[in-house]
Amino acid sequence: MPSYVVTGASRGIGLQFVRQLSADPSNTVFGLVRNKGTSQRLLALAHARSNVHVLEADVTDAARLRAAAAEVAKLTDGTLDCLVNNAAYVQETRRAYDLTTYSEKDEDDLLAADFDAAFRVNVLGVAYATNAFLPPLRAAASPFTSTTSASTAANPAKVITLSSGIGDVDLTRALRFAGQAAYCASKAAVNMLVAKYAARFAEEPLVFLALSPGLVDTSTRAPTPEELEFAVEFIERGKEVYPEWDGRPISPEVSVRAMLEVIGKVGREDSGAFVSHWGNKQWV
Ligand SMILES: NC(=O)c1ccc[n+]([C@@H]2O[C@H](COP(=O)([O-])OP(=O)(O)OC[C@H]3O[C@@H](n4cnc5c(N)ncnc54)[C@H](OP(=O)(O)O)[C@@H]3O)[C@@H](O)[C@H]2O)c1
Repeated sequence: MPSYVVTGASRGIGLQFVRQLSADPSNTVFGLVRNKGTSQRLLALAHARSNVHVLEADVTDAARLRAAAAEVAKLTDGTLDCLVNNAAYVQETRRAYDLTTYSEKDEDDLLAADFDAAFRVNVLGVAYATNAFLPPLRAAASPFTSTTSASTAANPAKVITLSSGIGDVDLTRALRFAGQAAYCASKAAVNMLVAKYAARFAEEPLVFLALSPGLVDTSTRAPTPEELEFAVEFIERGKEVYPEWDGRPISPEVSVRAMLEVIGKVGREDSGAFVSHWGNKQWV
């Protein structure tokens, strides 16, 4: 019975991961949310499907994550096949806030707050969650609990971390995209974190992958005029880099379907890589 943990499962891409994974009744899927009270759609899914479980954990709370891992292990014979580090602090699209405008407006505290939140959730939170779930992941991949040996295990345990194309240095240069600096820097940093875990566990049947979902519409409200202007400019630049692109964000359904295909195919030789939902460096 393959088991999955998805962080940030209250909405957006995380909720869609739980939805698609739990459509197969042989999967056991745990959605981690920081607040059950604001996770009605996930709770409704768990009510409708007995293979969906909801646990509360903020990814900045290492002790709570370890407690969640213990709860998962109780229901999975101590093993976990796949952790999806999806939760993120997504920096508001404040067009003005490229790195220089903070200092022009005497907003050093705001700059610090943005960096603190982005790195605490998107980098440290991934390390906390990964460390908390390593024992059941390693147990799933262990030669003593699996039927194959560590060196030949056909289905290594996987840690998939949602990154972003706008954390890619080459795309940033091509787009000339100066906005959302704290968020983008945190995604570039988490790519390195993923490579570090891959290096640490190179000898074990564990795969670590940084995965970008593409440009996905997970909005929960209509954009403000400023956000719309920002989005139009971003998309125009994107079309210069990718002339074949239609400029439309994809749905969470389409993104997660593509990512699950990539996740199904990745093997130990890919561990530590950063790829898109296409399984390569095409970011839209
Ligand atoms: N959408 C895109 O186009 C896009 C593009 C590139 C990369 N990504 C990445 O894909 C992932 C999902 O994106 P999304 O668009 O679905 O994001 P989203 O709609 O903003 O949802 C973010 C999720 O993370 C949770 N979260 C935030 N801080 C948390 C914390 N401290 N502890 C636990 N959970 C926390 C939120 O929970 P609450 O409901 O409690 O706030 C929510 O479930 C993120 O890693 C994002 O960076 C998205």
